[in-house]
Amino acid sequence: MSTPIIAPSILAADFANLAHEVNMINESEADWIHVDIMDGVFAPNFSMGIPVVEAIRRHARKPLDVHLMIVNPERHVEAFRKAGADNISVHIEVCQHLHRNIQQIQAMGCKAGVAINPHTSVSALENIIQDIDVVCVMSVNPGFGGQKFIENTYRKVSQLKSLIAQSHASAKIEIDGGVTLQNARALVDAGADVLVAGHLVFSAADPKGIIRQLKAIS
Ligand code: DX5
Ligand code: ZN
Repeated sequence: MSTPIIAPSILAADFANLAHEVNMINESEADWIHVDIMDGVFAPNFSMGIPVVEAIRRHARKPLDVHLMIVNPERHVEAFRKAGADNISVHIEVCQHLHRNIQQIQAMGCKAGVAINPHTSVSALENIIQDIDVVCVMSVNPGFGGQKFIENTYRKVSQLKSLIAQSHASAKIEIDGGVTLQNARALVDAGADVLVAGHLVFSAADPKGIIRQLKAIS
């Protein structure tokens, strides 16, 4: 078992002090910066857009893991790439041509992820798992930080782990939503490779200490 990739979610940061928040992540043991994009259509909320991603990029010394919770992501992936995205995840629930969308993202030099909502079965990934770099397993419903972790996620992580092994695929399993110091180890034991953490990190008195604790899981 290797140590997890830790991706603090900037959604929970102080948006009036973004440079300070990004610098904290730079100085921490975190690996990626998770950036949630919401359109008020697919996700019942708005978060941030291209200028904010560009601003984060100017300060960030770590890869930007951009999670698109938007309809018609194929219309916008190029703009997010130009703004500085290193990984781009799209939701399976909105992609009629998922395979094409993945090719589009990888052709721009990005890692491609597929995000699945809590109700979406792992079996929906059977014919795409070999082509993707990341599966973002939503462990809350898209739209808000600080929600309660959905326990069925463990079952999905185990199923996904088997699917990846059977398919000789190499996709990383990313858990997004409600990660705590209590569930993080069990998630890694179940097969999670990447832990996203928003409120856990940014509401802590010592965010770098929390990141260090998550990173120490092996
Ligand atoms: C939810 C977002 C998550 C969120 C996680 O729509 O996709 O990335 O920021 O935040 P926490 O860790 O606070 O649940
Ligand atoms: Zn996210």
